[in-house]
Amino acid sequence: MSLPVVVGISGASGAIYGVETLHMLLELKIPAHLIVSELGLRTLKIETGLTLDDLQPLSDVVFNNKDLGAAISSGSYKIRGMIVAPCSIKTLSGIANSSSSNLIIRAADVTLKERRPLVLMVRETPLHKGHLQLMANAADIGAVIHPPLPAFYAQPQTINDMVRHSVGRALDHLSINHDLIKRWDGG
Ligand SMILES: Cc1cc2nc3c(=O)[nH]c(=O)nc-3n(C[C@H](O)[C@H](O)[C@H](O)COP(=O)(O)O)c2cc1C
Repeated sequence: MSLPVVVGISGASGAIYGVETLHMLLELKIPAHLIVSELGLRTLKIETGLTLDDLQPLSDVVFNNKDLGAAISSGSYKIRGMIVAPCSIKTLSGIANSSSSNLIIRAADVTLKERRPLVLMVRETPLHKGHLQLMANAADIGAVIHPPLPAFYAQPQTINDMVRHSVGRALDHLSINHDLIKRWDGG
């Protein structure tokens, strides 16, 4: 059994990126450990109509974001890496400053201190310099800043095509070998 990937869904727009991450991990038979923030649940409902109950079958474990004593709070618990999809500026700020104020932020900090891959699908627009500085700080301590921006060379036909391409590229940073997306082959 391969090591799990921790998936954090925070309250930025784009809950669909988190949902698709769970779908793609399931397709790859990689276990997903899920944490959804309070505002993540709200955007999930607003944007997709889904609730946490709908995500349970896609995840092997669902953690409470307030449970700072959960297994993934400790570096001794082994994971393949973590992806926050989408990542709000608030969650980015907590990670960049190691605030450990909820489980998404704590698990991300543990991922970084253990030198495991952490991918942040940061979503906000427009960005002021403080946002850019937070991204630079997070990158300095090892995070991969991976905003969910569509790649048009993949010729997406649907929103799902765009989302899957972004998530597929994010999964590449977790050293997951997969063939779930169309890759540029030189034309
Ligand atoms: C519909 C909706 C869309 C939002 N979109 C964003 C966004 O794209 N980026 C962002 O940083 N915050 C966004 N927010 C605000 C965050 O949800 C808010 O800052 C929240 O405190 C984030 O908490 P969390 O990171 O713990 O989920 C949005 C809120 C709502 C209700």
